[in-house]
Amino acid sequence: MKQTILITGASSGFGLLVATKLHQSGYNVIGTSRNPQKTKVPFTMLALDIADDNSINAFGKELFKHIAQLDVLINNAGFYLSGLAEETSIEEGKRQLETNFWGTIKLTNELLPYLRKQKFGKIITIGSIMGLLNFPSGAYYGASKHALEGYFKALRFELHEFNIKVAMVEPMAFQTNVINNSVAAQGRISDYNAYRGKLEKFAKDLVEKAAEPTPVINTIIKLVEDKNPTFNHPVGKGASLFLAIQHFAYKTFENSIIKNINKF
Ligand SMILES: NC(=O)c1ccc[n+]([C@@H]2O[C@H](COP(=O)([O-])OP(=O)(O)OC[C@H]3O[C@@H](n4cnc5c(N)ncnc54)[C@H](OP(=O)(O)O)[C@@H]3O)[C@@H](O)[C@H]2O)c1
Repeated sequence: MKQTILITGASSGFGLLVATKLHQSGYNVIGTSRNPQKTKVPFTMLALDIADDNSINAFGKELFKHIAQLDVLINNAGFYLSGLAEETSIEEGKRQLETNFWGTIKLTNELLPYLRKQKFGKIITIGSIMGLLNFPSGAYYGASKHALEGYFKALRFELHEFNIKVAMVEPMAFQTNVINNSVAAQGRISDYNAYRGKLEKFAKDLVEKAAEPTPVINTIIKLVEDKNPTFNHPVGKGASLFLAIQHFAYKTFENSIIKNINKF
């Protein structure tokens, strides 16, 4: 029987690419978007805003009109809030957490009763390398992704006896629409002017050097196929080395980030 895969944020970037590839490979794919009619896709697209409780509740009811079982939930929807920590208002920060963290958790909770009843399933969540380490200008984004790491680490244990597997994917910078769709914090504190200027150039350079997304798509598809996936899956050039340096030689990691920012 064809496996059914639900992928949130399937209108763009990683979500669109994974959903399209899985659909072409014969999986039964359901994608989601806040504006499902806007993007023409070859798979079923349903309306979902993970930052809206009513939308999540309605989606839970609608989904099982389209499918009989759910094999894999891919929590992919999210956005990037950039901004120096002190220049970001709590309201802006809350909106970041409301989507990336709470939205992901609320949707997972909405679907867990079905998965537990089935006694099988898989939850793959797209975190970020910034959920395992962090950079200046990413305080709230990194916090939202760190929070997902902590949450799903616990859930992985708790769902073990229901035969529901839990895994994370942690991409470095890849070319999607994430920067076009990002939100910049509005606050300005003049003491930060010079540093903010350097950071903007550092970020621009990072975006220009971002890799094409195939490695992330391949990692997600491998996880869909893997019967017993491990938890963390960092993806990107040098990701594992980068993480090891951060873990075992934090000062070296920190100095290299500072040096790279000070180039600008
Ligand atoms: N690209 C990177 O370098 C990178 C690196 C690490 C992690 N990530 C993570 O990868 C995931 C996918 O991002 P992407 O890079 O593919 O960016 P993208 O091209 O901007 O795609 C984001 C997707 O998320 C959906 N979305 C955003 N807010 C939503 C909400 N409130 N409710 C439901 N859907 C929402 C969008 O759908 P609609 O607008 O149609 O609703 C869109 O399909 C995100 O979680 C991001 O944090 C990206």
